[in-house]
Amino acid sequence: MRILSIDTSCDETSVAVTDGTVILSNVIWSQASLHAKFGGVYPTLAKREHEKRIDWVIGRALSAAHCTLSSDIQAIAVTTGPGLAIALEVGINKAKEISERYNIPLIAVNHIEGHVLSPLARPKVITKDKLPLARSKNLKPGQQIIPKSQLSLPSFPAIGIVTSGGHTQLIRIEDIGKYKILASTVDDALGEALDKAARMLGLGYPGGPILEKLALVGDPDKYKLPTPLAGQEKRMVFSYSGLKTALYRKIEEIKLSKKELSKKDIEDLAAGFQKTAFSHFTRVLDWMIVNKKLENTKDILAGGGVMANKELRKNLRNLAKRRSLNIHFPYTKKLYGDNAGMIGIAGYFKAGKNEFEKDLSFVDRSPNAKIGQPFHFE
Ligand code: KG4
Ligand code: ZN
Repeated sequence: MRILSIDTSCDETSVAVTDGTVILSNVIWSQASLHAKFGGVYPTLAKREHEKRIDWVIGRALSAAHCTLSSDIQAIAVTTGPGLAIALEVGINKAKEISERYNIPLIAVNHIEGHVLSPLARPKVITKDKLPLARSKNLKPGQQIIPKSQLSLPSFPAIGIVTSGGHTQLIRIEDIGKYKILASTVDDALGEALDKAARMLGLGYPGGPILEKLALVGDPDKYKLPTPLAGQEKRMVFSYSGLKTALYRKIEEIKLSKKELSKKDIEDLAAGFQKTAFSHFTRVLDWMIVNKKLENTKDILAGGGVMANKELRKNLRNLAKRRSLNIHFPYTKKLYGDNAGMIGIAGYFKAGKNEFEKDLSFVDRSPNAKIGQPFHFE
C-alpha cells in the first residue's frame, strides 16, 4: 500500500511516500535556521513557512518516489497532534484537500506513535545495478542485498522510547496501536533541556547536536553536575529542570572566578551536562527493567530527535545488552528527528486495521494529543 504522509507538527515541513514499511521518499524542509535567532520555534513563522513550502515538498516527495497522486497513492496519512496547533493545521488542511480532490482515504496519525514506530521503517532493497562495482562483484544478476536492519524484527509487547524536543517517554507497546505511557518527564523534555543548556552556554539552536559535538572533546568529569532524582528511580519519572538550574549555577560560579567561560570550559560543561542528562534517563529505564515494570518484553524500539545522539544510543545499547534485550533504532538519521516517513509507517498499520477517517470534518488539530488515547475530541 502506497501512502503519502505529511508532518507539519513543528519546524519541519515533511512529506514522504511509503510502501508498507518501506520508505520510497522522505523529504524534510527544515526551518531550524529561521528560528535560530529566536532560540526556539516561533509558531507564526512556522505556520507561514509551512504554507509557503508544502506544495513544493509534496511535489518533491512524489517525484522522488516516481508516483503521482492520481494513480499511485492509496491513502494520505497526516499528523494531527501533538505539536504546534497552527503548524499542524497547515498539514491537516492540505491532507484534507488532497483527500477530497483525488478521493483518497485519510488516516490521522499521532506524532509520538510515528516516532515510536520509526525503527520499523525499512529502506528500499538494494539491487545489483544500484551498487558500486566493487561491492556488487560477488552478487548474481538480480540478487538483492537485504540490509542488516531488515533482518531483525521486534516482537510485542515491547518497550518504546521517545526522546525529542517536546517529549521524553517510556511506553509499553502491547501491540502496534496499543500503547500505555509508563514514564514521562514532569518538567522539561530531554531535547528541550539540551537546547536550554546550549542557550545558557551561548551556543546556537537546536542545541542537542551542537552539545554532542562539543561533548566529544570535553571532559565530562571536570564540572560534575548532580544526576536528577538519583536514588529515586522508583518514582518512574524524568526531570530535567533541576539539572538546568545546576548548570546555571556552575556557569555563574566559573564566571565569578574568571569572568568568562573559556572554549575548554564550554566543552567540559557540554560533556558534563550531556553525560548527566543521559545517565538520568538510563538509570530510570534500568530500574524499571530490573524491577519488572516492563514485563514480558524482549525488544526496545527507540526514536525521536535526541536518539540521533551517538552517545545516548551507545548507552542504551549497553544497557540492553546487560539486560538481554534487543534494541532497535531507525535505519537512517533522517528518521530520528521530525519526518513524514515515520507518519507513513504508523499510517500503514492503521490502514491495516481500517482506521480511515469516515468524516473529514471531524479531523482536527490536537496539539496535546497523547499516544494511546483517542485524539479527536480533547
Ligand atoms: O524529534 P524532534 O526533531 O522534534 C520534536 O518532536 O521535538 O527532536 C528535536 C530535538 C531537539 O531538542 C534537538 O536539540 C534534539 O532533538 N537533537 C539532538 C540531536 N539531534 C537533534 N539531541 C542530541 N544529540 C543530537 N545529535
Ligand atoms: Zn517529533
